[in-house]
Parts: sequence; C-alpha cells; structure tokens
Amino acid sequence: MFTIKELQNKIDLTLSAQKFEGNPPLLYEPIKYTLSQGGKRLRPLLTLLACDLFDGNIENAVYPAIGLEIFHNFTLLHDDIMDKAPIRRGKETVYKKWNTNIAILSGDTMFALAYEFMLNTDNKVIPQILPVLNQTAREVCEGQQFDMDFETQDNVSIADYIEMIRLKTAVLLGGSLKIGALIGGATPENADYLYNFGINIGLAFQLKDDLLDVFSDVEKFGKMTGGDILTNKKTFLYLKAYELAKNEELQNLNYYFNLPESEGTQKINGVKSVYNTLNIEQLTVDEMKNYYDLALLEFDKINISEDKKQNLLDFAKLLMDRES
Ligand code: IPE
Ligand code: IPE
Ligand code: MG
Ligand code: MG
Ligand code: MG
Repeated sequence: MFTIKELQNKIDLTLSAQKFEGNPPLLYEPIKYTLSQGGKRLRPLLTLLACDLFDGNIENAVYPAIGLEIFHNFTLLHDDIMDKAPIRRGKETVYKKWNTNIAILSGDTMFALAYEFMLNTDNKVIPQILPVLNQTAREVCEGQQFDMDFETQDNVSIADYIEMIRLKTAVLLGGSLKIGALIGGATPENADYLYNFGINIGLAFQLKDDLLDVFSDVEKFGKMTGGDILTNKKTFLYLKAYELAKNEELQNLNYYFNLPESEGTQKINGVKSVYNTLNIEQLTVDEMKNYYDLALLEFDKINISEDKKQNLLDFAKLLMDRES
C-alpha cells in the first residue's frame, strides 16, 4: 500500500515526463501550458488510490490516470470559453491568452490524447475501462449543456441542479475511481460501490466549488470569484436563496441577479449580500455534509479490510475542507 504523497509524486513525475509537443505549435503550446500548471490532480489520484485499494499494480493504472487528468483539463479549456472565465489556477485561461478557436482545437486534441493514455495499460482490462470513459465523457457534455441551459431557464429546481452537477462533475470522479478499481482487479460490485462513493463525493465537491466561487478570493481559489453570479448560474446557493427569500430579500435577489454583466460589481455584491442575510454559506456546507455522509455509506459496503480503506477516507475528508 502506498501513501497519498507517494501516489501524488508518481502522478507528477509521470505527467512532467510527457512532452506534449508537436506541430503546429499553436495546437500544442496550450496543452503544455495547461498541463504544466498543476491543479489538484485529484482525478488521477483517485484512480491510483482505487487501484491500490484492491492491491492492483499501480504501474498499470498510472497512464490511464494521466489520461483522466488530460480529459479533465480538456473539459476546462472548453468550460472556460462557455463560462467566459478569465483566470484559472492563477493564470490566464487558454481562450484569453490565445483565442477561442485555439482553445477549442487544443481541447479536442486533449480529448484524443486522453484515449491514447487510457489504452496504455494491461490489454485485458481495456474492454472494461473504455466504456466507463465513453459514458463519462458523454455525461459530462450532457451536464455542461444543462448548466448552459439553466443560465436562461427560470424554473430550475434543486433536484435539477443536483442532476446537472452529477453529470458535469461527479461522474468523472466516480469514473476515475471505477477505472482504477477495475484495473486493480476489483469485483464489479465493489467497483460500483466505489463509483457511487465517487458520485456523492463529487456532488459535495461541486457544491464546495460553487461556494468558493462566491466566498473565496482569487489568490486562494485561482479563479475569478463571482463568476457564477455574473453568468447567472443556477447554483445551489442561488436556488436555496430563491427558495428562502421573502419580501424585500426576494426583491433584492431578483433585482441584483437580473442586473446586466456590465454592472458586474454591483450585481455580485448585491446577490452576495442576500446570500449573507439568508445564511446560505452554512446551508451549503450542510448540504455538502449530507452527500459526504451518503458517500461514506457507499464506501462502507465495499468488501475489503478496513485498514486498506483509510487512504481514501482521509482524502475524501481533505477534499471537503479544501480552500482551492
Ligand atoms: C474544476 O476542477 C472543475 C470542477 C469540477 C469544479 P478542480 O477543482 O479539480 O480543478 P483543478 O484541476 O484542481 O484546477
Ligand atoms: C465545471 O464546473 C464542470 C466541468 C468543467 C465539466 P464549473 O464551471 O463550476 O468549473 P470551474 O469553476 O470553472 O472550475
Ligand atoms: Mg462551467
Ligand atoms: Mg467554469
Ligand atoms: Mg465553478
């Protein structure tokens, strides 16, 4: 069994040994730029932790794990265009630094690279893991389209929101775990329990992302704060506030939320002050906790000795408390 630190080192070393170079340079430079910026590298770590949980050979999981990180980074290139986001990981986003066409095409290339890396493993498991990646990739796109649809849709429920974030975010965490588990030789039942654990951790993870988007600062978060408010995202924070707001608070919420992007500062501060009045930060933390508890219930079902489980439990806990 490896420590979390050892697995993180393995990921960093393997990733930094990759060249990501080629012609034309404008296609490959943004890929190199993106993949050398770090980030938490959460998804490949989940893959390795899952493989290790079942005493699998980490060497068989490391390239697929990198493939999942490349896939994740591809989604970010496109997501930043869709969300008009200027900053990621403290640096200019690819479509800002270069342009939208470059971000689209470099992203597409990363999608292909993700598959190349996924195939670099024990041939026997490929028929098991490819369908997981395929389904995940489609679902992420479905979630992203719901996310965009909801920007201009009025009757979005909290259940709709949860389904949207399950698709855009949680399935990749679940999928990363499941792929690691399958490479590690887990039974299909255990792989599915771990997937369900990942889904619930993923829901809590996106709730935290939405929270940090409002209540963090750019130095810590590495992204512009207030972006979700600016682009009229139907986040849990907004939907909960909308559910609870009465009278003057409701008027304020409607007024500020509907301000145009050109009045960004006023819009963000106005919506945020309604959130503060309604204690939305705490309510979001409570909601995260609900999904974290559901995750633990799923994790409990995995039929494996308790001491092996500690790494993933520790890591899940860390994720809940993250500040970036
Ligand atoms: C950002 O993911 C996109 C979401 C699903 C919220 P991360 O928060 O894992 O981003 P990095 O890779 O650490 O930068
Ligand atoms: C990201 O959701 C989901 C995907 C990238 C698929 P967000 O749009 O909230 O992610 P950030 O905040 O830009 O990282
Ligand atoms: Mg988005
Ligand atoms: Mg975004
Ligand atoms: Mg976000």
